[in-house]
Amino acid sequence: MTTIQPTALDQPLLRPVDLGGLRLPNRIVMAPATRARAADPGLVPTRLHAVYYGQRATAGLIVTEGTWIGEQAIGFVDVPGIYSEEQTAGWRRVTDVVHALGGRIVLQLWHTGAVSHPDHLGGGMPAGPSAVDPHETTYTRGGRKETVTPRAMTLTEIERTVSDYGAAAENARRAGFDGVEVHALGPFLIPQFLNPRLNLRTDAYGNGPAGRRRLLLEIVDAVAAPWAGRCVGVRLSPYWTSGDRFTADEATLADYDDVVTELNDRSVAYLHLRGPGPAAPGAAPDPAAFARYRRRFDGPLIVNHGFDRASGNAVIEAGIADAVSYATHFIANPDLVARFALDREPSAGDPRTYYVGGAAGYVDYPVAEWGDETP
Ligand SMILES: Cc1cc2nc3c(=O)[nH]c(=O)nc-3n(C[C@H](O)[C@H](O)[C@H](O)COP(=O)(O)O)c2cc1C
Repeated sequence: MTTIQPTALDQPLLRPVDLGGLRLPNRIVMAPATRARAADPGLVPTRLHAVYYGQRATAGLIVTEGTWIGEQAIGFVDVPGIYSEEQTAGWRRVTDVVHALGGRIVLQLWHTGAVSHPDHLGGGMPAGPSAVDPHETTYTRGGRKETVTPRAMTLTEIERTVSDYGAAAENARRAGFDGVEVHALGPFLIPQFLNPRLNLRTDAYGNGPAGRRRLLLEIVDAVAAPWAGRCVGVRLSPYWTSGDRFTADEATLADYDDVVTELNDRSVAYLHLRGPGPAAPGAAPDPAAFARYRRRFDGPLIVNHGFDRASGNAVIEAGIADAVSYATHFIANPDLVARFALDREPSAGDPRTYYVGGAAGYVDYPVAEWGDETP
């Protein structure tokens, strides 16, 4: 007699959820991942970008790779922008494909600040909050290079940067995105301003935690304006540790507590948190690291870093997150949602092809073979 096996379709990751006015059919979010495929001089997304994101349209939500808000923001090779008409038109092709395939897609807005290099800026000096070398490396055409001591941004440059964010968000709206996400993660511009080791300013953008938060809050307001206050996410990494400038000590975490609390007063559709990651390879991420922010933020929370299917379901079931984002799994598994739904093991990707350009390791990851051995 044939026995009908229960399916894995009733799992928390597969339940729909509302995110800032967007209805997601599932809670499996594609995390932003730089793939360095905009190889033309104008940094325009190509046909391959449309293929890549279209292949992943079953994600509850796609967050694109970080995308430059202006030329001064550049700090990596072959990353697309959203500051020219050509770039905006290139992105329109991407959003059309994703929407035609039933997906949802938001654009991540990126500025590297002091973690750029004269090689990225036509020989010009990078600018950050203060003239302090972040002691990071940056990926240039000539390989990874050490950062330099940047210029301190003038007040006029800060004003210009905030307005560039606003213009980029407006371009994203014209390009057909469902929203934008502010990249305030890692060692880049916004976390540089939040960091007292890099921000030594004595004006309104420094001089204590409230001043250090100001750039982020002004950017959130600027990008929310063209979206009439809807569909603006913020991505933070309070636990980020790198070099000798970014340390997740108690003072840093206390500052981030206040940042998150302040975001409640803004038009923020969701908070996208990158956690500390699993303590050991293969271990589940620590839910307490995210629960800290669940208590402080009133809106939807997307969590990230080292989740798999089981830990993703568990963090939603525990009420700590509304959705879970996956970067490395989505790179290697365009059909990640179906694999989770049918409890198939995700494939491993090849990190050597993350940034090499071209189709290989980008749009050639296969979907699973769905049949099993039963005839
Ligand atoms: C190749 C690659 C590129 C990435 N690029 C970005 C990016 O552009 N913006 C961003 O916020 N995070 C970026 N990240 C970080 C990921 O979104 C994510 O936080 C990290 O991979 C951990 O999630 P995972 O365990 O699901 O891979 C990148 C990660 C990888 C592996």
